[in-house]
Amino acid sequence: MTDRPGAGDDRVLTGMVWGVKASFLGYLLRMPGSRQKTCFGAGELDTGEFYFSLEDDSSFDRLTMTGLLKFRGLVELRAHGGMLNVQLINPWLDISVRQTVLSVIDRAQPVDSDDRVELVTVAMPAPTTDGETVMWSAAETYLVDTAVPIFNDVYRPREPFDPITVRIMA
Ligand code: HEM
Repeated sequence: MTDRPGAGDDRVLTGMVWGVKASFLGYLLRMPGSRQKTCFGAGELDTGEFYFSLEDDSSFDRLTMTGLLKFRGLVELRAHGGMLNVQLINPWLDISVRQTVLSVIDRAQPVDSDDRVELVTVAMPAPTTDGETVMWSAAETYLVDTAVPIFNDVYRPREPFDPITVRIMA
């Protein structure tokens, strides 16, 4: 137990925030009958961005600042009577010196499957720390070539998507 409400609860301090792509979410909002669902550790912020809770950082090396950050949650975006169905399930951020990639579970797979699709590359800025947490703020993202069909081939490869912000315990 703690004497501060929320103190000791790492979930309050850690996680990943991503708006996917503002024009895409705007398109969905304009579409009558569209709906979005967040659950299993994901949520929607007042800004319209999505929050995913940090599930596992045991494969992340804080000395080299590289490795795997596993987030948890499901975001489902549906429109056109279900013909448009984009699911972002349990995103993982694989951070290496060479490049950083955000992957999600393929919507065709069950939630506990390990089959993933790479969605965007992430240009990680230098992290900042307040002593308690480490944060990468507003990292630029770009659509991976193989993820182009997920968005109905509307966006070109390397299309800029929205920035990602990530925070973990220091
Ligand atoms: C019944 C089938 C569909 C119809 C009639 C349709 C229609 C449209 C229309 C009219 C626009 C332009 C909307 C605007 O600028 O406000 C658009 C944009 C778009 N659609 Fe669809 N669409 C369909 C299916 C899909 C599917 C299956 C996807 C897969 C994710 C998709 C993804 C997109 C994207 C990414 C855009 C661009 C949004 C942006 O401005 O960034 N669409 N669609």
